Amino acid sequence: MDHKVTVVGAGNVGATAAQRIVEQELADVALVDILGDLAKGKALDMMESAPVVGFNALLEGGDDYALTAGSDICVVTAGLARKPGMSRDDLLAKNTEIVGGVIEQLVAHSPETILILVTNPLDAMCEVARRASGFPRQRVFGMAGVLDSARMRYFIAAELDVSVEDVDAFVLGGHGDTMVPLPRYATVNGVPLTELLPAERIEAINQRTRDGGIEIVNYYKQGSAYYAPSAAVVDMVAAILRDKKKILPCAAYLEGEYGVEGLFIGVPAKLGRGGLEKVIELELTAEDKAALDKSVAAVKGLIEKL
Ligand code: NAI
Ligand code: 2OP
Repeated sequence: MDHKVTVVGAGNVGATAAQRIVEQELADVALVDILGDLAKGKALDMMESAPVVGFNALLEGGDDYALTAGSDICVVTAGLARKPGMSRDDLLAKNTEIVGGVIEQLVAHSPETILILVTNPLDAMCEVARRASGFPRQRVFGMAGVLDSARMRYFIAAELDVSVEDVDAFVLGGHGDTMVPLPRYATVNGVPLTELLPAERIEAINQRTRDGGIEIVNYYKQGSAYYAPSAAVVDMVAAILRDKKKILPCAAYLEGEYGVEGLFIGVPAKLGRGGLEKVIELELTAEDKAALDKSVAAVKGLIEKL
């Protein structure tokens, strides 16, 4: 393949993302985990599926960061996932230590790479990665908004009994309980959602979106969601490698946009070969802006604990 992607963490999100990347022949993949044999075994198992599935990308696994050298993109999923009763923020201390160490290794082997953070608490882990890498915001950002927006799109499609392909929606803010679903920007084949559903149904969809992560945790009991999260990661990877200039919600380091300075917050951004090429500023109502400010305050509180 012309491209190389490293995925750190061969657990649920990381291994499934690696599988999607090779099956779509987006890039060769290096799959790294502190449990080297786990990564090695999963990589071999997936490569043995290649003749049946019919892909030509290569996947290598292990615990040696030499495998990752020269990566175009590094996706970081290493760390603890939450269990029932835990919030994403409960993972802060342990995952800060893990992500800091991982980033140092990745940057040493791929100094020009683009870092996509997935580990929770997402917005804080982006800041840990920014500090550890010293990268500009174009090359360090996080995945959460694509997932949260996909959940909202699915809930809208199910409520209206229409194809998910016809539904667009955006979720802004931090990846936590204060995230901000924006029904005013949600459309079904161009028709605003606000013209299709009464306010109380829209609010029920907003709340299910905010609770989307814990809904899955409560079913799985031993971990958190990974099919939708891995698909969301791969959407971002494809937008970058194929230079699509696609507008996707990402956790981006804001430099004054939305009135926020020096924090990672979920906002729409243009993804292309340069990484996060532009932050898009949406017009917000006073109500949406107040909700976003609340989410910003929650992220700020978390960063202060780092
Ligand atoms: P998992 O437990 O299945 O996998 C995590 C993997 O990280 C394990 O294989 C573990 O051995 C590995 N790991 C731990 N320390 C490491 C280190 N120092 N170096 C390399 N690998 C290390 O967890 P899962 O479900 O894959 O989730 C991973 C993370 O992603 C969690 O923090 C979870 O909360 C987060 N997440 C974030 C989402 C988002 O929207 N941003 C969505 C889904 C998950
Ligand atoms: C989710 O939203 C755990 O953050 C992850 O599913």
